Amino acid sequence: MSLGLPYEATITAITRLVSDPGLHKPRLGIVCGSGLSTLVSSLKNVVQIPYSKLEGFADSTVVGQKSALAFGYIGKDNYPVVAMLGRFHPYEGYKPATVTYGIRVMKRLGVKDVIITNAAGSLTPDIPVGTIVVVQDHFALPNLTGMSPSFGPLTSLEYPRFLPLSDAYSARLRRFAFLAAHDLHFPDDALAEGVYAWVTGPAYETPVEGRFLRNAGAHVVGMSTIPEVVAAREEKLDVIVLSLVTNQVVIPDTYRSIKAEVKAELAGLSIERPEIGTASHEEVIAVGVLKAEIMRCLVERIADLVSSE
Ligand code: 6GU
Repeated sequence: MSLGLPYEATITAITRLVSDPGLHKPRLGIVCGSGLSTLVSSLKNVVQIPYSKLEGFADSTVVGQKSALAFGYIGKDNYPVVAMLGRFHPYEGYKPATVTYGIRVMKRLGVKDVIITNAAGSLTPDIPVGTIVVVQDHFALPNLTGMSPSFGPLTSLEYPRFLPLSDAYSARLRRFAFLAAHDLHFPDDALAEGVYAWVTGPAYETPVEGRFLRNAGAHVVGMSTIPEVVAAREEKLDVIVLSLVTNQVVIPDTYRSIKAEVKAELAGLSIERPEIGTASHEEVIAVGVLKAEIMRCLVERIADLVSSE
């Protein structure tokens, strides 16, 4: 049952373009976020198909993201995987159906587990830049206000009308993440656990928006991933989300008071003018590039643990 989505055309094209039949039924799906597409160097017998050759896929417009579907074998057991190198975001103007299409194709190829990576901003000094956060829950304002991929008529009779998300993040896969970090001798603080807040962006948060998300219980914030998680759960896939912290969200405890500064100035007193930091996409990409190797090793080791279950 496809209800308008071109699954058959996409899968026919994949089987035509991927000559090794061993790669036609990948078991693991991976989504590579900003700067994290170097994962492709972990894959053996890799075949990359540009999204432009696949019906149903759009082109990623974000600097730092590739635009291809990669097939290959990962890890010591040569586990067959499919990886999205670059993803689609609602802020680029894509509809939820386009943003989640790759996940739904993965399911139809035979994928059971998905590892979703992203770059995120930290809402707390307890989680410094460079940390990988294993997501345990999400806070998604857009999902609560009509932007969920499952909002509207059901696109498959297989999907539940009321999708439960209390168990969205697989305890089994999260356990593998921490075992993998141990196997790789990562320091204890390399991996943390936390709550991801999804915002549509594309502007970074204002200070009060950052404070709001932190007060709502979120630890990191980003503009991706959650539509894919919702789709993956609709498709009954097991999901793990790994968020690489690329920057601290600027949440000053107090505002600079121009009123107080002018009063001081008029009274002839010296005044301090604190500089307010700003987030930048360049910083996000630079940290992504720097930490891509750690993320790559972690994902590869998680795949080993999945394949040897
Ligand atoms: Cl600070 N905010 C959002 N919304 N997304 C991000 C980010 C910040 N850093 C990386 N991605």
